[in-house]
Amino acid sequence: MAERRLRLGMLGYGTVGSGAYRMLEDNQASIQAKTGTRIEVARIGVKDAQKPRDLSPEIFTTDLDSIVNDPEIDTIVELIGGTDPAGRLVELALNNGKNVVTANKELMAKHGSRLVHLAKSKRLDLHYEAAVGGGIPLIQPLKHQLAGNDVLKMMGILNGTTNFILTAMQQDGADFAEVLPDAQAKGYAEADPTNDVDGFDTMYKISVLASIAFGRQVAIEEVHREGIRSISKVDMKYADVLGYVIKLLGICEPVGDRVRVRVHPTFLPKTHPLASVNGVYNGLWLHGDFVGDVMFSGRGAGSDPTASAVVGDLIDVARNMAIDGPGSALPYDPDMPTESITTLRSRYYIRIRTLDRPLVLGKIATAMGQRGVSIAAMEMKTIVPHEEGEIVFLTDYATESDFREAVASLTAEVGVSKVHATIRVED
Ligand SMILES: NC(=O)c1ccc[n+]([C@@H]2O[C@H](COP(=O)([O-])OP(=O)(O)OC[C@H]3O[C@@H](n4cnc5c(N)ncnc54)[C@H](OP(=O)(O)O)[C@@H]3O)[C@@H](O)[C@H]2O)c1
Repeated sequence: MAERRLRLGMLGYGTVGSGAYRMLEDNQASIQAKTGTRIEVARIGVKDAQKPRDLSPEIFTTDLDSIVNDPEIDTIVELIGGTDPAGRLVELALNNGKNVVTANKELMAKHGSRLVHLAKSKRLDLHYEAAVGGGIPLIQPLKHQLAGNDVLKMMGILNGTTNFILTAMQQDGADFAEVLPDAQAKGYAEADPTNDVDGFDTMYKISVLASIAFGRQVAIEEVHREGIRSISKVDMKYADVLGYVIKLLGICEPVGDRVRVRVHPTFLPKTHPLASVNGVYNGLWLHGDFVGDVMFSGRGAGSDPTASAVVGDLIDVARNMAIDGPGSALPYDPDMPTESITTLRSRYYIRIRTLDRPLVLGKIATAMGQRGVSIAAMEMKTIVPHEEGEIVFLTDYATESDFREAVASLTAEVGVSKVHATIRVED
């Protein structure tokens, strides 16, 4: 029997591209044994022709269109990142009849619905397992093994940089500004950390997961997003005393026929399975109506783990090509109706600076109670005897809009000089 071949055009040879190439080389024999197909990298597209590389220069080109237009290449793996030129090249590849594997969360979060429909209409594969959770299989289980469930809640630690920073703050009793340079020196945070620490990366990832779980694309503009810059070591300490850790979570949950998707720092009980996902590790916890609680965790980024997901997708492509299958892109429609965060019912942590006077506590409790927010737990600390104190509350369940009104009412009139922090609590 003639040997089957999959001729691959690779766009990008950076952290993930070089890892995927190495894995295809190192594990070639076993991959061929499992698929009956020899996966060959025919061409690799890069930006900088002068950069020293560990492969012979003939395989590289800076003319990425020539790869995507090459009739000898049947599958494209896009590992450039961003939407331009990656989006145009992916679309061109699909229009040229090529299967596509990508690790690009931003592209899928912004244009996923359109691209999967295009792939489906052409009977092609479009896989993107590496786009969320690096080496952890999340997308395929959501698309297939868990698809019979109604997902009642999904929460993920989806960004290794922020999890590394928060874990270091917790373990070393350090502030964000002290930990960030160390994360940068270790290569866990970019020189410009905005994408990670302000929650954009998690927003892309949770919107991709929500789109799959709920079957329609969640527009990123509909995702409530907060980052971790304002978290302090003081809040970390109170969290610990109260039995919680602070994690940046991507959360989605159905609300009637809508879905609410949000990204923010969260007080998470120490007993929650996600609470022990530390450092650069990622985790996803979900509750399905039939399966119950499910937890995934592992290495969410890095050359080797991400290569593992990319190569897994390529193996799916090879198997599908071998049976001359109809393509395995799973389409989902655009425009998932979404629910605002203002209707969320949650518990909250709040840390305030008070004028240390008698009656202040009663006034604060009354002001909050009048807005429908009652206090469930409290810690107090005197900062300057008889002058200033710090009070920390955990509230009972309240709506976000009531809580915001209650916070706005905490002024000098009721003896509050500053609201330092408010953080949502997941129990
Ligand atoms: N890094 C991770 O751990 C990780 C994990 C999960 C998903 N991802 C995703 O994987 C993708 C790739 O990430 P990465 O970390 O491997 O990126 P990277 O190390 O920066 O590599 C990007 C590659 O794309 C090439 N490239 C960039 N812009 C280009 C352009 N305009 N034209 C042609 N080539 C261009 C670069 O060329 P030069 O080599 O010439 O610079 C480089 O080879 C992204 O979508 C990212 O979100 C990454």
